[in-house]
Amino acid sequence: MKTDWKFLEKAMRQSRKISLRGQFADDPARARKFSMKAAGWFLDYSKNLVNVRTMTNLFKLAESAGVKTEIARMFAGEKINVTENRAVLHTALRNRDPKAQIFVDGKDVMPDVRAVLAAMGDFSDRVRNGAWRGATGKRIKYIVNIGIGGSDLGPVMANIALTPYSKRSLKCFFVSNVDSTHIAETLRSVKAAETLFIVASKTFTTQETMSNAHAAKDWLVKKLGADAVARHFVAVSTAKDEVAKFGIDTANMFGFWDWVGGRYSLPSAIGLSLMLAIGKRNFGRLLDGYFAMDEHFRTAPLERNMPVILALLGILYSNGYGAESYCVLPYDQYLSRFPAYLQQMDMESNGKCVDKSGNPVIFRTGPIEWGEPGTNGQHSFYQLIHQGTHMIPCDFIGCCQTHNPVGDLHDKLMANLFAQTEALAFGKTADECRAEGVPENLVPFKTFPGNKPTNTLLCRKLTPETLGALIALYEHKVFVQGVIFDVFSYDQWGVQLGKVLAKGVLQDLTAETVELKHDASTNQLIARYRKAVGRKA
Ligand code: F6P
Repeated sequence: MKTDWKFLEKAMRQSRKISLRGQFADDPARARKFSMKAAGWFLDYSKNLVNVRTMTNLFKLAESAGVKTEIARMFAGEKINVTENRAVLHTALRNRDPKAQIFVDGKDVMPDVRAVLAAMGDFSDRVRNGAWRGATGKRIKYIVNIGIGGSDLGPVMANIALTPYSKRSLKCFFVSNVDSTHIAETLRSVKAAETLFIVASKTFTTQETMSNAHAAKDWLVKKLGADAVARHFVAVSTAKDEVAKFGIDTANMFGFWDWVGGRYSLPSAIGLSLMLAIGKRNFGRLLDGYFAMDEHFRTAPLERNMPVILALLGILYSNGYGAESYCVLPYDQYLSRFPAYLQQMDMESNGKCVDKSGNPVIFRTGPIEWGEPGTNGQHSFYQLIHQGTHMIPCDFIGCCQTHNPVGDLHDKLMANLFAQTEALAFGKTADECRAEGVPENLVPFKTFPGNKPTNTLLCRKLTPETLGALIALYEHKVFVQGVIFDVFSYDQWGVQLGKVLAKGVLQDLTAETVELKHDASTNQLIARYRKAVGRKA
């Protein structure tokens, strides 16, 4: 189905007239009308530039794109990742219905999903209780996950987010960058005899991950000998042959499948480092949270569907108002890496410029996503959101209860969250400034335009369940936007060119002698580098 963009134009006709001050003054029920609950999260979207008619047209936009049908196709395991000829089934990874069957190419994938989860659980129990030991008989105290992109960002984000649930005696490290500093500094912090390396890579060919994995293996072999590798290295991958080639016993490999996209892989075996940290029970609770949001998304009507609502509001601003980006502002230090995690999820999925027929799109596709935890951001970039010339819709995320009650700090944190959404929505008029006695020459500087859209997401407490549901909420938001944009959200061809060119450049950087055949700028940079590191020009 082709998206009928006239519904966005209609939505915009209403939206442009909206003053949030006016709307709230006229309608005492507005906050309630534009709020909803799902899977442990409360969403207040009343501080958006919408009224009932705007939302009705936005829902028609979603309907015209066939969102309902596409949701059903994804959950059913249809091969909606057409350019890679793959199903998109991260939802199967957290399907907690013991009787569920999901078929890909005529095979039910659920028995394999459950088997890997059970193997992960068994392994993490053994590491955590000391049954699995290093080659010298010592208990494992350090976990080093080596991976990048989807094989890193999810585990890092969730490890930080679920710190209160983690076994504090196990220290987790994450090495992703091919910058040798990353692995070198990490190896300085761990002891070989007490370290377990998890090489996490869907393909097991990614340059950064394999380079770091080889470096870690060389280091371990030097310290403990080659026989120690089997007790200190496990793999998470879809590529058994590559794992064996690297020298990891495939009995110590945790598999997943080509229908799990890297950026959607946290609930697969890619989450092993997280399971080691928080234990299999808490990992199961995370999956429960994902599943609760999945079920909401799959079954709720568009008008009461949280991911759909977030997706439509996003499109209103990106394509109606021309907003280039949106900001995610978690008022919870445990969610400090959540914006970075969302960057890959959203921007690698919908950062596309051709539609499903291969034709250039004539509207904005995936937005730029960015953000920082509150209140830190308030003392940095919020100035631009309040008084700058860009429209930056924001999602504020807060948890009513803290894991770490210290005096009144949590009340202060949440007061800041609520106050920011109030200030952004209602601003401060020139007259209000004058009434406060602001001198006339300062009035333009102290005026806040307001009418800046925000969503507020609140949960009772950040738990494995609420984290899982929050991740699924954004995954499905991205899915809905991809359907409306009519782009393929589950491939990422845009990352290939740079990878291929880097191989050629690497040869030119390291060869004994070279005849540089790049453009003048690249040639100059390579020549400069060669000279600086003492190689012939
Ligand atoms: O370069 C992009 C990418 O392919 C991501 O999509 C993926 O998450 C990451 O690289 C890592 O890939 P792998 O898990 O195969 O090492």
